[in-house]
Amino acid sequence: MSPRRHTTEIQALAGIAISRRRFVAGGAAAFVASTLVPGIGHTANRLEFEEIAANSLDTVTVPKGYSWHVVASWGDPLWSDGAPFNHQNRGTGASQERAFGDNNDGMSLFNDDGRNFLVVNNEYTNQPIIHGNRASKKSETADDLRKAKAAHGVTVMEIAQENGRWTIVQQSPFNRRITADSPMEITGPARGHELLHTEADPNGTSAKGTWNNCGNGRTPWGTYLACEENFNVYFASSDPDYELSAPLKRYGICKKDKYGYGWATGDERFDVSKHPNEPNRAGYIVEIDPMRPNSTPKKRTALGRFKHENAEVVLANSGRVVVYMGDDERGEFLYKFVSDDQYVEGNDNSGLLDNGRLFAAKFYDDMTGSWLELTPATASMNSTAEICIHTRLAASTVGATTMDRPEWIAAHPKKAEVYCTLTNNKNRGIKPNKGNDATPVGGPNPREANHYGQIVRWSPDGADHESTGFRWDLFVLAGNPTVHSDAFAGSKNINAGNMFNSPDGIAFDKNGLLWIQTDGNYTNKGDFAGMGNNQMLVGNPETGEIHRFLVGPRECEVTGITWAADRRTLFVGIQHPGEKGGSSHFPGGGDTVPRSSIVAITPDDGSLIG
Ligand code: FEO
Ligand code: CA
Ligand code: CA
Repeated sequence: MSPRRHTTEIQALAGIAISRRRFVAGGAAAFVASTLVPGIGHTANRLEFEEIAANSLDTVTVPKGYSWHVVASWGDPLWSDGAPFNHQNRGTGASQERAFGDNNDGMSLFNDDGRNFLVVNNEYTNQPIIHGNRASKKSETADDLRKAKAAHGVTVMEIAQENGRWTIVQQSPFNRRITADSPMEITGPARGHELLHTEADPNGTSAKGTWNNCGNGRTPWGTYLACEENFNVYFASSDPDYELSAPLKRYGICKKDKYGYGWATGDERFDVSKHPNEPNRAGYIVEIDPMRPNSTPKKRTALGRFKHENAEVVLANSGRVVVYMGDDERGEFLYKFVSDDQYVEGNDNSGLLDNGRLFAAKFYDDMTGSWLELTPATASMNSTAEICIHTRLAASTVGATTMDRPEWIAAHPKKAEVYCTLTNNKNRGIKPNKGNDATPVGGPNPREANHYGQIVRWSPDGADHESTGFRWDLFVLAGNPTVHSDAFAGSKNINAGNMFNSPDGIAFDKNGLLWIQTDGNYTNKGDFAGMGNNQMLVGNPETGEIHRFLVGPRECEVTGITWAADRRTLFVGIQHPGEKGGSSHFPGGGDTVPRSSIVAITPDDGSLIG
């Protein structure tokens, strides 16, 4: 760490610390009642658990009184003709196309007439794991490439509970794999724009595939939103002299195959020197209707193009749809979309995400903020279509605030208050973002070379998500009070018993408790000593309390969260266990290949969990 640290007045900004072994949350009243009557148990409007210690075990750890089991792992077949996962060859192109994808991330459970449909992003692949059967630990054959592309995308699968365990309903007519090769329709203002024209699609209206879908969203009209994040790393150039345009560079397109995916050599459309507009057709939010298995996914360009994390959908007081979105890269921005038309239950709402206004957030040091609208006039661009394609450049022009890597956004279910994880930013106060926007220390990004992360929250003026003004504060600054005594100790609600780093996935349960998942440093050493593996915690927005609920297996990220309709099961994603190689065999144990998995967590007494 740098000895020279610039920080702002953080103690005044962050939440209240309350250190207790026993955690009862659900509002101040429940908190006090339980203090008087310890061990009162679960009721409809609160959650009680004994917080767990950090650990570095190769398993999932949950509090006493809770159990977990695996629902689905990478490579599990969705149809009965599929072979079980093969630990020797780790699947083939053909088997992967009919199986659950890799690296599960954001997900939502849809309930229809008592049946349950889990829709899950399959974000990416780890080369040494998926291609661990090859000497090079990389894609070596055309079938390896087919397998890798099929491991990406989105999985739709019906699940059912039998004898207390959730499993895939094989053969369900709703089961579906959407991959990096599936047909997509491009909709919204950028549809047909010349920057989207390619040899295969001269009209710029139909893209092929979706990949690197990170967080997710769901709409009030029953559709799923997959969010394309690091789409850039799949592109490369066969021509070493190819000159990348400034916008391509801003989006991180490289001439080199940075992570060795090999897609650009195996599938020419990823060769940017031959197809320079292809990258412009990724980086969007993709709307999927899980109840219509034959429907074509829609790339909704009105929501902007950047490295999308998730999409938190709420309704403004007018009934317009508001979508909050983060761009997860160092020094990038926070956005919101406001639809032109209103949501009306029962109406055809399928066009709501195609027309609206896009804003980027500006935070002021006086704890206020405003949403700056991106229009051709404010962004100095020729058209709305161009703003939807070069959204980052538009937000730079209006002077939005560069953030510490905005990850998930979650809206409080009982009041107009929105939370966003800012996972970390080693460049804060050190260097500008890719658009050369300064990254000064201050406001919601108060620590230089911030390697722990924080959660910012804001309340829109007039308690209306359509307002362009808001007030903000920090709910928590992550840190390590056993190592640091300055701002890097974290805010007052961080202590030796609940510390963590790099908050990423967040979601509110029905009661208004905030579930926080981490994707951070799991070395358990130095600045991260005592934090153990990546984890999931529960925060109480009213009191500031945060307590650890779950610890994941080794080298995993905990990401993706959704509840069963009866709120008696919580589904949580365990992504890339053993990503560094060797130390994890989750979930199979023994010598098995580590596999990303969805786990179900249930209270042993059948009570509610959130
Ligand atoms: Fe895929 Fe920003 O995490
Ligand atoms: Ca994430
Ligand atoms: Ca992450």
